[in-house]
Amino acid sequence: MNKFIRQTIKRVDKLDCGQVQRLLFDMVDENELLAMVTSSIDAGMIISDNQHRIMHVNRPLHRIMPVMRGNHGEMFTWEIIEDSEISEFVKSSLMNNETIRDREYILDISGRTVILRLSILPLVSEGTIRGNLVFVEDVTRIKNQEAQLRRAEGLVSLSTMTAGIAHEIKNPLGSMAIYIQLMEKMLKKEGEVPREELLSYLEIVNEEVDRLNSIVVDYLFAVKPIDATLLRRDLNGVLDELMEFIGKEMEFDGIKVEYHADEHLPWIQLDENLIKQALLNLIKNAQHAMEGGGVLTVNCVLKDDRIVLSIGDTGHGIPRDVREKIFEPYFTTKDTGTGLGLTVVYKIIKEHGGEIDVHSREGEGTVFYISFPVPQEGEKLLSFDHAGAEEVIQ
Ligand SMILES: Nc1ncnc2c1ncn2[C@@H]1O[C@H](COP(=O)(O)OP(=O)(O)O)[C@@H](O)[C@H]1O
Ligand SMILES: [Mg+2]
Repeated sequence: MNKFIRQTIKRVDKLDCGQVQRLLFDMVDENELLAMVTSSIDAGMIISDNQHRIMHVNRPLHRIMPVMRGNHGEMFTWEIIEDSEISEFVKSSLMNNETIRDREYILDISGRTVILRLSILPLVSEGTIRGNLVFVEDVTRIKNQEAQLRRAEGLVSLSTMTAGIAHEIKNPLGSMAIYIQLMEKMLKKEGEVPREELLSYLEIVNEEVDRLNSIVVDYLFAVKPIDATLLRRDLNGVLDELMEFIGKEMEFDGIKVEYHADEHLPWIQLDENLIKQALLNLIKNAQHAMEGGGVLTVNCVLKDDRIVLSIGDTGHGIPRDVREKIFEPYFTTKDTGTGLGLTVVYKIIKEHGGEIDVHSREGEGTVFYISFPVPQEGEKLLSFDHAGAEEVIQ
């Protein structure tokens, strides 16, 4: 509230009638200004006191989602929300003092599918929670545009990938056909069957079957949209498990593992299996780059509001002209590579709202940096205190 009004209220018993009237007008003006500000925002707002009783509902809320009209009197915030699922959710979040950011709901409003994004934020003044703000945005248009864009990207990569897979499958199939013919000839020949030779051919056929299998599995993974289930998880736990899993194999290959992670990383939204798969792909590439042994460095630190995870190797490095192509589907410099590993990594990281970057020096090694945003939950409390209100008014 305006500092002047606040000061004047303290002396109200000493004011004459005209001064009280002036004070009331000032308060009405201030209220109207706040109502004007909240009604010109393109989002719905319900402001409540610390008992969750409604103090103010802005006009756009009625346009954005179905709410009860009329006098809200002594009602609780959740009581005016007509959709029962949202109402229940708001009630339990407020009762448990939870801060909610960007939770999405799909609603059918008079035959139209609408996507709403809802946040619940505490209103803090002088270090105490004075009330809450429920903030609702209609994100239908943005979401539809995003989906269209993703679909268009998907179509482009689908055609590139289909061409790629046809090429990829031809080689193992060709070699399988040759070895099967050779085996057939051997078996048709009179006399004793050369078992050793036959077995070695069978082994080759088996390897090619494995290769085909991994091409198909990687391909399916690369083309189908990733269905990530993002849950609040501790990245430390995921990393610990992964490092334990790869330990033996690295030792066997003469690779020393140096692993360090900040002990208390904030929890982030992640799909554990997908993240493990992405990191394994990066580790496998590092392993391939260090054929004669080397050092694999895995670091995970908190930097500003992001978790930065790096996976480094002391391998042969990536030449500059190759670097820009490594995330492309089917790009590989290996005889038996699928060229899909990093495509999959890129997709998974993007699905987590993360970024990926690579630094490499030929002959020295490569480092992949992945960063994830840390949700700001509970950290930045929206301040709606007197000073803030003054800024609006003056
Ligand atoms: N750590 C690394 N060191 C050197 N080269 C790498 C590394 N990671 C990726 N690359 C390069 O990127 C290419 C694409 O990698 P990827 O998509 O995983 O496919 P693949 O491993 O099947 O070749 C690799 O063939 C390799 O040339
Ligand atoms: Mg790979």
